[in-house]
Amino acid sequence: MRKRILTGITTTGTPHIGNYIGAIKPALELAQETDESFFFLADYHSIIKNQNPDDISMSVRNVALAWLASGLDTNKSYFYRQSDVPEIVELTWILNCLTAKGLMNRAHAYKAAVAENKNDPDKGINMGLFSYPVLMAADILMFDSTHVPVGADQIQHLEMTRDIAMRFNHIYKDLLTIPEPIIHNQDRVVLGQDGRKMSKSYGNVIPLLESEQNLKKAILKITTNSLEPGEPKDYKSCTVFDLFTHFGTSEQISELKQAYINGISWGDAKETLFNIINTKLSPIREKHDELIQNKDFLNDVLSDGANKVRSLAKNKISEIKDTIGIKLIS
Ligand code: ADP
Ligand code: TRP
Repeated sequence: MRKRILTGITTTGTPHIGNYIGAIKPALELAQETDESFFFLADYHSIIKNQNPDDISMSVRNVALAWLASGLDTNKSYFYRQSDVPEIVELTWILNCLTAKGLMNRAHAYKAAVAENKNDPDKGINMGLFSYPVLMAADILMFDSTHVPVGADQIQHLEMTRDIAMRFNHIYKDLLTIPEPIIHNQDRVVLGQDGRKMSKSYGNVIPLLESEQNLKKAILKITTNSLEPGEPKDYKSCTVFDLFTHFGTSEQISELKQAYINGISWGDAKETLFNIINTKLSPIREKHDELIQNKDFLNDVLSDGANKVRSLAKNKISEIKDTIGIKLIS
């Protein structure tokens, strides 16, 4: 069976090195060994939580640039924006009419939002958040995806997608492909400046695409203890060291371990970290700077991507509509 991977990237905020190490890099590696890969910008998902138009459009731009600068090859992968494929929204409605409300009541993201509310359980909860998993199911089922690489927090959404697809196939006919999840290795999250998981919601990120100077500033802000130069330091509990391990070779990691034992100063440890991250990110930054020279580039790439996938989506949606009885009157 041909393998078709598909994954959506929510367009919120500016990409950081946690996104790169935890999502972009592994997905691009997976694409290398897969028959077909679909990567898309989930911009309709992003408006659920953010209603600031400038934030949304800026984030779509930055997230798209992060993927392209990191090496996404649009000749080998489909790369598009969710909102450019209106058939996905049509399919969302059709699936909404098959999805039990009780199934959505159990969704983690919705339940977490309810749990945060004190008196009124519905406070601040819109229908987009409530039916988030249905839009995600439509993203996946629209293109007969066989495999969906996601983080562990998305497993439940994949189960719901499978439930909804099986229900469709049971009521009508075997038309939707039941997808399998591929779970990213979540064992080692990338740590942020304060030692917690790097996340834009904690404001502790090291940016992926900014200047060398800003990268350096972000690294200097990493919290360390107050041990003096010359005093041995514990690499095991150190954020600077932990970040280094995502970028260094095993030899470089051993060297830094030894330097910790020998009492490296925090200034030098941070300099070592900066040098390695900077070396690894330089080609990405250069590519990014080159891409932004051409003002039309992103729109061209995304409109090409949309054209390619829309012909697939149009065929599929017409087959689906035909199946459910929304067709030419005979
Ligand atoms: P954030 O926590 O900054 O809002 P997202 O939830 O938008 O990040 O994450 C987008 C992708 O990047 C997800 O696939 C997620 O697994 C990955 N990711 C985000 N932060 C990290 C991290 N600190 N370490 C590893 N992967 C991460
Ligand atoms: N919900 C996913 C996340 O927050 C993003 C997403 C939207 C997605 N649609 C998808 C992932 C379809 C995989 C397949 O990370």
